[in-house]
Amino acid sequence: MPNKKKIGVLISGNGSNLQALIDACEQPDFPAEITVVISNKESAYGLNRASEHGIPAHIISHKNYKTREAFDEAMHKLLLHHNAEIICLAGFMRLLSAGFITKWRGRILNIHPSLLPNFKGAHAVRDALEAEEKETGCTVHLVTEELDSGPVILQAKVPVLPDDTEDSLHQRIHEQEHRIYPQALRILVEKL
Ligand code: GRF
Repeated sequence: MPNKKKIGVLISGNGSNLQALIDACEQPDFPAEITVVISNKESAYGLNRASEHGIPAHIISHKNYKTREAFDEAMHKLLLHHNAEIICLAGFMRLLSAGFITKWRGRILNIHPSLLPNFKGAHAVRDALEAEEKETGCTVHLVTEELDSGPVILQAKVPVLPDDTEDSLHQRIHEQEHRIYPQALRILVEKL
């Protein structure tokens, strides 16, 4: 497919959602391609996933920057260097500065393991379990300045089972994340 949209993916860890995006982008009829993966953590397994698929993978450690703005600017430059047009956050565990979000407005997607607006923040799966929800899920949304609050693109529901642990529930959520993240990316690409 000609004129595939160029995607930069930001990660901090395992990168199973990155893998789902890589697999989708390798399909000839998928309208996007990943041109760069950036991790703020050297140990992120997702870096290997990128390298295995011939995708440039970079580490930019936030620890090497005095301010969030300076760290974000380094990522911004690298994204532009790789001609990124859309950013997918895939388990990226840093808050983005307002300046960065403004530059990429309407072009940053995030995946979150709850049915937003329920259970925002870093412990969404545990929080849903502790709240004794019968159902939770995952959400792909556009990123705005307010944490986990931008317009929703897609959601998927997941049942909470009586004997669920945080791990078993997160695993069930992951299966849905891997299904809806590529779908949501396609929706955004087709809108732009
Ligand atoms: C996912 O559950 C995602 O919703 C959350 O962080 C987790 C990342 O998992 N933002 P992975 O690194 O993609 O496997």
